[in-house]
Amino acid sequence: MKVGVVGLGAMGAGIAQLCLEAGLETVGREVTAELGDKARGRIEHFLTRKVEKGQLEHEARDAAVARLTTTTELGDLAGCDLVIEAIVEQIGPKRELFAELDRICPPEAVLATNTSALSVTEIAAATGGPERVVGMHFFNPAPLMPLVEIVRTERSSDEAFEAAYALGEKLGKHPIRCHDTPGFVVNRVLIPLMNDCVRVLDEARVTPEDLDAGMKHGAGWPMGPCELLDLVGIDVHVHAAEALWQALREPRMAPPPRLVAMQRAGMLGRKTGGGFYQYSD
Ligand code: CAA
Repeated sequence: MKVGVVGLGAMGAGIAQLCLEAGLETVGREVTAELGDKARGRIEHFLTRKVEKGQLEHEARDAAVARLTTTTELGDLAGCDLVIEAIVEQIGPKRELFAELDRICPPEAVLATNTSALSVTEIAAATGGPERVVGMHFFNPAPLMPLVEIVRTERSSDEAFEAAYALGEKLGKHPIRCHDTPGFVVNRVLIPLMNDCVRVLDEARVTPEDLDAGMKHGAGWPMGPCELLDLVGIDVHVHAAEALWQALREPRMAPPPRLVAMQRAGMLGRKTGGGFYQYSD
């Protein structure tokens, strides 16, 4: 089986890493060769760490890396059985990409989007074959988080839906099946919850450190909400919250002003070196 991944940012590179580790030939597409090289470096780094920690054999790491092809040409995805899109979270570029993939990929290939809060149905409607379009929503960091939501639209075929589910299993994930509704399952719950956490920062005049300690030690979270927002990216969260607010009009879905201000200031979390916390690496 050959898999394509379009967009090799944090999520796309993580998804590609999973495919490579599962023994699948993987074609990763980025808009420039430099971005493709950066993603390759990221994947090599995490696989090397696994070798250093005794979680992966050296030969297996080299074989996984050798299964990766990076390209800037969408046409190179023509031979893939399933393509996963992980580009920018904007409906316009996603619809354009799916229309293009629909022309390039043979009719039996499955087209999956990793969107976290946009409508899979709206993305699928840009193609001439919406039956083959599904959602495969991974969680950040994709190589570590066990869940993948397999999302079907009204028009997804059973074959495409089950092929995506089977790939989720092959990647060692715990797939769950759901329908295309705003935020699917986890984000429908997690986004308003994270928004509430940020509102509590101001209401209770608690520091990010103490809020994180509260949720880790009082609610058993593996990571505090401020740490998690810095990991996911403030911009990614704000986009997703806005999309849910647009779709559902529930006030708790709207991103809190504090997060919007951070986004505008470019304090996006780990990727910019600072969000709620400062990062040196
Ligand atoms: N890709 C690949 N490997 C990675 C990685 C990445 N992005 N990030 C870390 N790793 C590897 C590193 O090699 C690291 O080891 P070193 O530091 O030694 O190099 C290793 O993973 C860390 O593994 P650990 O087992 O030590 O990590 P941990 O026990 O601290 O757990 C965690 C980390 C899984 C992230 C845990 O803190 C956790 O579960 N946090 C909650 C994350 C969460 O809720 N994610 C969902 C976000 S919401 C979302 O994604 C939805 C959306 O649509 C926006």
